[in-house]
Amino acid sequence: MDFSKAADRRHTNSIKWDSTAIENISSNPDAEPFWVADMDFPTDPHIAETGRKVAETGIYGYPSFPLLTAKASEWQRKKHGWDVPAEDISFAMGLLHGIASCMDLFTQKGDTILVPTPAYRPFREITENQGRVMVDHELGYDHATASFYLDRERFRKDAEKSKCILFCSPHNPSGIVFSEEELRFVLETAKELGILVISDEIHSDLVHPGKKHIPMNKVNETIGADCITLFAPSKTFNIAGEHSAFVVFSSEEMRDTFRKREHAMRLDEPSIVIGELASSAYEHGLEYNNELCAYLGDNVRKIDEFLKASNSGMKMVNAEASFVAFLDCIDVYDKVKAEVEAHPEKYTGGKGGGILSRFFGVNASVAVNDGTWFGDQWGRFVRFNYGTSIDRVLGGLTRMTEALKAL
Ligand SMILES: Cc1ncc(COP(=O)(O)O)c(C=O)c1O
Repeated sequence: MDFSKAADRRHTNSIKWDSTAIENISSNPDAEPFWVADMDFPTDPHIAETGRKVAETGIYGYPSFPLLTAKASEWQRKKHGWDVPAEDISFAMGLLHGIASCMDLFTQKGDTILVPTPAYRPFREITENQGRVMVDHELGYDHATASFYLDRERFRKDAEKSKCILFCSPHNPSGIVFSEEELRFVLETAKELGILVISDEIHSDLVHPGKKHIPMNKVNETIGADCITLFAPSKTFNIAGEHSAFVVFSSEEMRDTFRKREHAMRLDEPSIVIGELASSAYEHGLEYNNELCAYLGDNVRKIDEFLKASNSGMKMVNAEASFVAFLDCIDVYDKVKAEVEAHPEKYTGGKGGGILSRFFGVNASVAVNDGTWFGDQWGRFVRFNYGTSIDRVLGGLTRMTEALKAL
């Protein structure tokens, strides 16, 4: 694969490239998008070929995918060394749907849900929309090394107040790949306190070289907490528009309850597009995936080098996985805030963003997610999507650092 040729996706019904959505976060409809978590790379050619063949039949009747979970099982075995039988894997219509359904089934209204923050905003929305209460567990952050970490003592205290832990592993947007020891700690804490762990592992196939992802339910095999792991081919193969995910439960009882509910809601059958693309991805995608992980790891190294050399006061957090990561703007935040507050007329139309995202939208023509999207206290960061060609990445960062230096 040649990942250096990322596509311009304007006018393709992509939310990431939609000018109204871009203006809403950045005050500039023409800003170049580095926000929503999908990549600008074409998917694996095998998957694209599958999509083409399906389209060419011209007949899109009811499908049947009896082997889909077997393919998901085989993927987990070859990618993560996890022997999870196909019959233990359940289909869900997207990862967030899977989380929402599990939270609804296995927690009660009014229950407290521990969410490590900065957190992908839908975690808060799902929790609160269902009448649960989010326990905002701040990850530790070391500004000197630009690294997030799990602060075990505080985690334990917050877990004691909670009925459920909504975990994200690897973590979006901090970029942490948790070690086996850390995962054991989370599970042992949950077991001791009798609380449920839900682990969102949508970014797990995009761990950069040198790090290893370990599925939560694999670690749980020797611990026995109540635990649910969700994974998906969507981020991995840049097919997030198809909305599919897979769910593994620590007990047959939870699994059967989930399946019964999904069936009752008529949500347990993949559509023809989902089934075809997900099957093809898990069957053929390993080589593409290995090349992509190496490219993304390289992008992080180059971003880090570029920002260090720029002396702009902005730095890359220590991202170990995925293609979205926080940029630390702590040292420049006060200056940016003063500029945005002094010239409100320049920053109109960015109601869905924050101080930093509007500043970069207007002055660098770059659309990033403001840190406040991940929790009010994270406003001195932005999330930057580097799942695109390194030329685009460095072009965007050049404009961002120049805008900061012009302050
Ligand atoms: C941590 C995390 N979970 C879930 C999702 C969305 O999953 P889906 O589109 O399958 O609902 C995302 C997308 O960015 C994500 O980052």
